[in-house]
Amino acid sequence: MKEVRLGIIGVGNMGQYHVQSALQGKISRCKLTAICDTDPAQMAPYPQVKHFTESEKLIRSGEVDAILIATPHYFHTTIGIDAFKNGLHVLTEKPLSVHKKDCERLIAAHTDKSKVFGVMFMTRTDPMWRKLKQLISSGALGEINRIHWEVTDWFRSDTYYASGGWRATWKGEGGGILSNQCPHNLDMWQWLFGMPSRITAFCNFGKRHAIEVEDEVTAYMEYASGCTAVFTATTGEAPGTNRLEIAAEMGRVVVQDGKIHFTRNEISTTEALRTSTDAYNPPPNWEIDIPTPGSGGAHNEVTQKFIDAILDGTPLIARAEEGIKAVELANAMVLSTLTNRTINLPMDSDEYEAKLKELIAGSKDKKSVGPKIASVPKYIKQ
Ligand SMILES: NC(=O)c1ccc[n+]([C@@H]2O[C@H](COP(=O)([O-])OP(=O)(O)OC[C@H]3O[C@@H](n4cnc5c(N)ncnc54)[C@H](O)[C@@H]3O)[C@@H](O)[C@H]2O)c1
Repeated sequence: MKEVRLGIIGVGNMGQYHVQSALQGKISRCKLTAICDTDPAQMAPYPQVKHFTESEKLIRSGEVDAILIATPHYFHTTIGIDAFKNGLHVLTEKPLSVHKKDCERLIAAHTDKSKVFGVMFMTRTDPMWRKLKQLISSGALGEINRIHWEVTDWFRSDTYYASGGWRATWKGEGGGILSNQCPHNLDMWQWLFGMPSRITAFCNFGKRHAIEVEDEVTAYMEYASGCTAVFTATTGEAPGTNRLEIAAEMGRVVVQDGKIHFTRNEISTTEALRTSTDAYNPPPNWEIDIPTPGSGGAHNEVTQKFIDAILDGTPLIARAEEGIKAVELANAMVLSTLTNRTINLPMDSDEYEAKLKELIAGSKDKKSVGPKIASVPKYIKQ
């Protein structure tokens, strides 16, 4: 195979971006041959490719080798499973699925490992986050003792929530900020720090918007190492903050405003605690700004690496199997809130699925539906 024939399913806010990238030749050795949306109007601007209103028909059309799924999240699972049954490669938008059990079903359907299965975690292409991962893996920080990530700059207005009937409902989306905005943060969390062993969380449902799902969360996490962590996120603050602080043996790292700053201790914290004759002052340190040039290839880099993986067998930016972790963190936070208890990880995926079914059954779903959003979010590079 010299080029991959790609089909894109879901041509909405995000799907349009992927369609345009492919049509503008931004993905090499990739030919967009077909698109699918249940709403034909979404596909009208792209007469140069085949149109389908049912994913089943696109998948069985013989027109594509691979699909990119950019539908509402629940369909990532059903469409992904159908694609694997029909021998296609799959790249899905985040989150991998709405809940852990669906992730397990989708991953289990990927039996033919010659088929590539990736997930759209483009934050992993950002040089700043790559540098931070390198810093942690190099051992330069020493053991991490505490993590605090405040991500309160995910502002979303009522217009955003009204832009799709599926959004911010248990039935249509299966969650709120943790399912839609935070998958990137939660993937980054597990990519950098691994999975915690316990989570206690406090979600607020419809605190700042007329929605039934969570729009604010504060989670406390513990690691087997003894490291403790707090994660806070909301879509209801302006201007909000995005600040990650890592307290490690060799000092403090702060990631904020697109920069990494390392306050490096001359000796480790534990050594200072044990040996210092000064009762009050921490050990001397150096202030270090860590340069992180460039901005990374974002979504198109993830798609390009997916195409390269199909043609050359090279690594993906994010293997889909890794996508279950961000979903598990999100689910555990909601489950902890609903059951008012600490959730030990790995969590019980059946318990969460049952809870979600209860939420769907009890849904009042009175969310108003307004016009579709005209453009992709400004954080997506054009
Ligand atoms: N990676 C990112 O930065 C990023 C950003 C935005 C959205 N997303 C993800 O992309 C997905 C779509 O989000 P969006 O904001 O584009 O939503 P959207 O509502 O704007 O678009 C979804 C589109 O899918 C279509 N659709 C619904 N059900 C379908 C089905 N069964 N088959 C085919 N088409 C179907 C709808 O008609 C709509 O056009 C979500 O999973 C979301 O998490 C990712």
